[in-house]
Amino acid sequence: MRIESPREFERLGALRVYGLQKVYELDAGPETPENASDRDVVRVVPTEALHAIESEMAIVVPVRNERLKLIEGVLVGIPHNCLVIVVSNSPREPIDKFYLEEEAISNYARFTQKKILVVHQKDPHIAAAFAEAGYTDILGSDELVRNGKAEGMIMGSLLAKLMGRKYVGFVDSDNYFPGAVNEYVKEYAAGFHINGGDFSMVRISWHSKPKVVENSLYFAKWGRSSRQTNQVLNRLLGHHSGFETEIVKTGNAGEHALSVDLAMAIDYATGYAVETFHYVHMLEKYGGLLEGGESANDMHRLVKISQIESRNPHLHEVKGDEHVDDMIAASLSTIYHSRLCPESLRAEIEDELNRRNYLKDGEQLAPMRIYKSLDRMDFDVFTDRAAPALKVVGEKSKKPATV
Ligand code: GDP
Ligand code: CO
Repeated sequence: MRIESPREFERLGALRVYGLQKVYELDAGPETPENASDRDVVRVVPTEALHAIESEMAIVVPVRNERLKLIEGVLVGIPHNCLVIVVSNSPREPIDKFYLEEEAISNYARFTQKKILVVHQKDPHIAAAFAEAGYTDILGSDELVRNGKAEGMIMGSLLAKLMGRKYVGFVDSDNYFPGAVNEYVKEYAAGFHINGGDFSMVRISWHSKPKVVENSLYFAKWGRSSRQTNQVLNRLLGHHSGFETEIVKTGNAGEHALSVDLAMAIDYATGYAVETFHYVHMLEKYGGLLEGGESANDMHRLVKISQIESRNPHLHEVKGDEHVDDMIAASLSTIYHSRLCPESLRAEIEDELNRRNYLKDGEQLAPMRIYKSLDRMDFDVFTDRAAPALKVVGEKSKKPATV
């Protein structure tokens, strides 16, 4: 891949947010050119380097009631060396949709020898493993993992660690273009290659999202929700750095990847807020701005966020109304309720939500549910309890399967 070096970054404490990087070539050849240097304005990441990182990466595919053809297309796009972790929350009654998914995925894995772990979000063994390892927040009143994409992502990240991967990335299962999925994963790998380190995150900004407007295709760049979220996040950063900035372009980036160490260290918000909260929380945790925040030790390591602009148009299943106002409110709520949010920005958020008629006079923006980081649970206990229930299809089973 041929990709622009980040031209600028904002630094707060241990956190570095790099500017958006453009992709110039999806495939720049197998080897590093002889005259290449780390200081080049446009960098070559050779195919070999991408493959090496892909072998250390797990890709989590959250599924809830998607069409099998779409899920298969997504699997087709994921590079072979990645371990795929499908976390499904599809209904098992009256028709066992999960069974159909498992069957289709196993078949696919047989043809491709791709390593795929398929789990159900409501798997009682995994729920029991969470309980015994002391991470009960994620369990609902029925003692199973709660519904939600964020909960599926948290579960997937933990399984990526259990399977020994160094990086974990996410791609939605309702993407229409295998080529786009393939590109996202290559960009995750390129991001880690360029801005490596143990605490690193890569976020994708879609180049465009095709829509039909007046009977012809229109390639929209920014949705209302991303525009709003990015603006408020930039205000937050600017407030603390003292310099106005436009660095954040990926406040709502569903397509993202991070090192497993970082995935274990950060807190998570639920629902639409999960991606925005990454920024808010990492700023709280690593920005060096809060009294009694992280210890000096944590401040020493550099935590990096890379943002890469993908080239394929993004097209996913349309599921009716997009609830733009709910998305905006959820994202802004994580900023509003942060200890880092200054009064002036709080007032602006309130004004914005009033303007959208989202908040009535005197109403307060509800806080989102937050899950504390996974590194406070007993990982060995989780592994002992959960591992026997896991079966990777596409490779000869090393562990006995109990389900
Ligand atoms: P949107 O793309 O933001 O409009 O949201 P989607 O409804 O497409 O959901 C994003 C992805 O998460 C899709 O791949 C869904 O199948 C998946 N998903 C949605 N809800 C859940 C859930 O409760 N658990 C899991 N594991 N995945 C979910
Ligand atoms: Co979708």
